[in-house]
Amino acid sequence: MDTLVIEGGLPLRGEVQISGAKNAALPLLAATLLAPGEHILHNVPDLRDTRTMLLLLETLGGRWQRDGATVRINTDTLSGAEAPYDLVKTMRASVLVLGPLLSRAGFARVSLPGGCAIGARPIDYHLKGFERLGVATSLEQGYVEARVNGRLRGDTMYFDAPSVTGTENLLMAAVCAQGTTHIQNAAREPEVGNLIDMLNTMGARIEGKDSDSLTVHGVERLVAAETAVIPDRIEAGTYMIAVAACGGKVLLRDCICRHLAALSEKLRLCGLIIEERQDGMLVACPEVAGNSLCALESVDVTTQPYPGFPTDLQAQFMALMAMSEGTAIIHETIFENRFMHVAELNRMGADITIEGSRAVVRGCGRDSLSGAPVMATDLRASASLVIAGLAAAGTTEISRIYHLERGYENMAAKLQTLGARIHKVSA
Ligand code: EPZ
Repeated sequence: MDTLVIEGGLPLRGEVQISGAKNAALPLLAATLLAPGEHILHNVPDLRDTRTMLLLLETLGGRWQRDGATVRINTDTLSGAEAPYDLVKTMRASVLVLGPLLSRAGFARVSLPGGCAIGARPIDYHLKGFERLGVATSLEQGYVEARVNGRLRGDTMYFDAPSVTGTENLLMAAVCAQGTTHIQNAAREPEVGNLIDMLNTMGARIEGKDSDSLTVHGVERLVAAETAVIPDRIEAGTYMIAVAACGGKVLLRDCICRHLAALSEKLRLCGLIIEERQDGMLVACPEVAGNSLCALESVDVTTQPYPGFPTDLQAQFMALMAMSEGTAIIHETIFENRFMHVAELNRMGADITIEGSRAVVRGCGRDSLSGAPVMATDLRASASLVIAGLAAAGTTEISRIYHLERGYENMAAKLQTLGARIHKVSA
């Protein structure tokens, strides 16, 4: 298996181009199933997960071609409505084809995604929402079968928790339903807004973008659209935290600053200098006399649905708090098992203990981490280990980096341009 080797202790300086958001690209790719014709999507990151989604669209009869960050997709003739287990098990976001297939073909058979490292990840909210729209669902040999006779019918539904892909799936199911659909307690993530903009460009009539109450007026049909994936706020946040951990000064080009307000606030409290600019975000770590790095204040964090602190940046922020001057409490409220990075960080010299859904991080100062061989367990835990390795003294070897390659485009190359000593060793 491929490994990342990092020589830590160097500051990061320069500019890095932020790629399109993985968690926006995936629903936008799935939405191309809603209408025949040629869809053009710009700023699509080339990741393991987007390649899996394109393979899934191909399995369903779609045809696509990539030209740099632009992907052209044609779903004129769908030849199937099944998302097979061997694809879904590698990427749970495959469930996002349920809504569009129900809307387009009235039928879908999708493997249950099963759990993953960070939690059980059920899709009960998705299924209850479809049933509210007149869909009959059944579970057969690990697959969800969903079927509707004729058009879906609009109705009102309420999410017990603001599920991101649940909101996206129901939007895609409701756009051509008979009548109006109201989704209460909807997710407000920017990636949901990106999908709403694409669907409205295709002829849908969705109101309430960026709010927790969405209204979908059903239309007869949709047409293919040209749209762009928004910049990845989680990639940008990961690099912001890396600068805080390593020192230096970096411009994160093209990220949308307001999408990172919660993290920016926390990093300013840690002592970082953050300048919001038209062309992106400038992040700098102040140096004290003798060019040594500023001491990091310990700051508590509780993960929340957007616009709160993102759960997808929790592991990365924890690596930073391991180097702070005090004790930070990190409370994970979204997923039940998103502390897999703790054991690996402790092997690098961190002092973190887990108490239920809270991690108590006893910061040991900037020179506390030392390089070690560690293992990636999930996408964001991998990013946390990269940050720790960049800041630690000595060499860090991260195995199972296929996790990292699911969600970060050219991470080693981007970090090398910022002065990091990091390279990939292929098995
Ligand atoms: C999306 O996952 C993201 N993935 C996740 O990013 C992100 O961590 C998560 O939202 C929360 O922000 C994509 O957008 C592809 P949820 P999703 O449904 O939609 C529970 C990454 O690292 N729930 O908002 O699957 C669920 O168990 C990934 O890029 C149900 O109980 O998350 C969780 O506790 C990881 N039943 C909470 O709701 C359901 O039917 C929020 O989950 C659905 C969700």
